[in-house]
Amino acid sequence: MQLFVDTADLKEIREAAAMGVISGVTTNPSLLAKNGSGDVKSVIREICELVPDGPVSMEVVGDTAEQMIKEGKAFSTWASNIYVKVPFCVEGMKAVKWFAQEGIHTNVTLVFSTNQVLLAANAGASIISSFVGRLDDIGFDGTQVIAESVDLVRQHGFASKILAASIRHPLHVTQAAAAGADISTIPFKVLKQMYDHPLTEKGMSLFKADWDKLNATLAV
Ligand code: E4P
Repeated sequence: MQLFVDTADLKEIREAAAMGVISGVTTNPSLLAKNGSGDVKSVIREICELVPDGPVSMEVVGDTAEQMIKEGKAFSTWASNIYVKVPFCVEGMKAVKWFAQEGIHTNVTLVFSTNQVLLAANAGASIISSFVGRLDDIGFDGTQVIAESVDLVRQHGFASKILAASIRHPLHVTQAAAAGADISTIPFKVLKQMYDHPLTEKGMSLFKADWDKLNATLAV
């Protein structure tokens, strides 16, 4: 399972890219607003340069397929690794079909059920973002939808990748991987939490202390 970072904060993306474990970035209007920049194009272009080999999702907000296509067409000229993020709805799927025919990659977002996955896959979505945390929040099992979606896409030979979105904690990432998700997009705070284990930290201190006792020299 590939790991994307779910943020529009350039400092976080710079740090995450340097960690060597992430292969893409997802943004949404809320994440962009949180970082307060009106110059979205510059921010997104900088993100695309920081993660040149990975998809960077930029979301359309139009009400009609025509409006979404107009926005997405413009975004796709900003960098070669832009994925147009399209909200799941009737108009959105019309736009996804159009983008697929034009060879423009898409990420269908706000997906909460396997039937929505089926529709997005038929429209030709490159990535389908199934939200885990927001479903869990209302008493449904977000991970179960991921598992069913992965089965559905593989059983019927769709090319779409299943992305586990709306990740709230490290266990969500483990569960998404076990359910067979292709990608998980992770808030930076959760990405850092994934590194932590008290036994790793304890073990490192112990090895360091024992090494110091050796008074050894290294020919490096
Ligand atoms: C990513 O593509 C989604 O927009 C994001 O994961 C949503 O996360 P949230 O439910 O924490 O807002």
